[in-house]
Amino acid sequence: MTFQNNKAFAQELDKNDALAKYRDEFIFPRVNDKNVIYFTGNSLGLQPKRTKAYIDEIMDDWANLAVEGHFYANKPWWDYQERFAAPLSRIVGAKPSEVTVMNTLTVNLHLLMVSFYQPKGKRFKIICEAKAFPSDQYMIQSQVKFHGYNPNEAIVEIQRREGEHNIRLEDVLEKIRETGDELALVLIGGVNYYTGQVFDMKTITRAGHEAGAKVGWDLAHAAGNIKLELHDWDVDFAAWCSYKYMNSGPGNASGIFVHEKYHNDKDLPRFAGWWGHNKERRFKMEPDFDPANGAEGWQISNLPVLTLAPYLVSVEMFDEIGMDALIEKRNKITAYLEFILHEIDKEVKSTFEVITPTNPDERASQLSVLLHGEGRSLFDYLMKNGVITDWREPNVIRLAPVPLYCSFEDMYDFGQILKAGILHLHS
Ligand SMILES: Cc1ncc(COP(=O)(O)O)c(C=O)c1O
Repeated sequence: MTFQNNKAFAQELDKNDALAKYRDEFIFPRVNDKNVIYFTGNSLGLQPKRTKAYIDEIMDDWANLAVEGHFYANKPWWDYQERFAAPLSRIVGAKPSEVTVMNTLTVNLHLLMVSFYQPKGKRFKIICEAKAFPSDQYMIQSQVKFHGYNPNEAIVEIQRREGEHNIRLEDVLEKIRETGDELALVLIGGVNYYTGQVFDMKTITRAGHEAGAKVGWDLAHAAGNIKLELHDWDVDFAAWCSYKYMNSGPGNASGIFVHEKYHNDKDLPRFAGWWGHNKERRFKMEPDFDPANGAEGWQISNLPVLTLAPYLVSVEMFDEIGMDALIEKRNKITAYLEFILHEIDKEVKSTFEVITPTNPDERASQLSVLLHGEGRSLFDYLMKNGVITDWREPNVIRLAPVPLYCSFEDMYDFGQILKAGILHLHS
């Protein structure tokens, strides 16, 4: 499609957008008496209007039923997590038994590493991407030390080539081959938080297995953003948060995936708690742990249903729409944003650079823009003028045109504000 940088064209795209009606389902902050242009759904998604009712339902059940709510609430609390299995499995390409919701992301990655990072003899190394999200770096370093290894020897980072912003697949595969029988685990962010690069998880997972290692994915920036086929790709484990593309609220619950091939492996080490115990016998208060079948066997504590309620709203909404429809709009709106950026760049002869891959298969709902010239003052200008974006050191702004609630007109309006900002700073 040939795009145009004008308001009427953007409005026409919105008119033909099958997902346009969902914009009204979200609450936008306001700046200068106008709804903001919200580009930070990759950090914290907007609040769906449906969310409050789901929380109120639990507050009411708690008020009216107190402890009886565990079994007699409108959505009983004791097995609240089961409501997620079917819709969430469709979102991440899994079988319902392979997914569950619990805790928060880094906590879950730690818990999954208890099961899937089993260094032995010379096989003790972990491959991850250079400049991984800091929490992943700290998590991996602390796991390695916990097992008595030196992080400098045990952690193998895949570097970007000199002068390049993204990691090449061939370099990932080469690093896996090179590490060979010293490799215990590959653990990478499926979508890089800084550049928005989407990794070829299928190919990397296969290569990790060929080297005899386990392969897990941090899907913080992938869940609800890209098409995942975790079961078919034979991924061993994965975890993601729900507060970014899945709009479940600040710091909210995490989802996990454990491939079904491990479900009957009761010897797999894991940290246990009563909510992971065989469900039929959970309240018999037995002394010995008998893990529930499936990902639920990794549960530990009884469920924080007040925090799961907004996540349930989200998985139901995603299920209603379907990932395919979402991705169709995502590709179009991301391409339109890229077009707008290039148009403005030409008009004002600026010096910014989009560092996210241009290949649609290697990117999703994020464009990261390196501001060579304007830097932080341009970011401040955008924020003051109702464009909510985020700043990442040393000089990158990340723009996520989330398909659920961003409009094509937003992209056009953003271009005009960006242009005015650059001209203002140059004057
Ligand atoms: C890629 C990635 N991994 C891990 C985390 C940490 O998540 P949490 O604080 O929920 O553990 C984040 C948070 O933004 C992230 O983007």
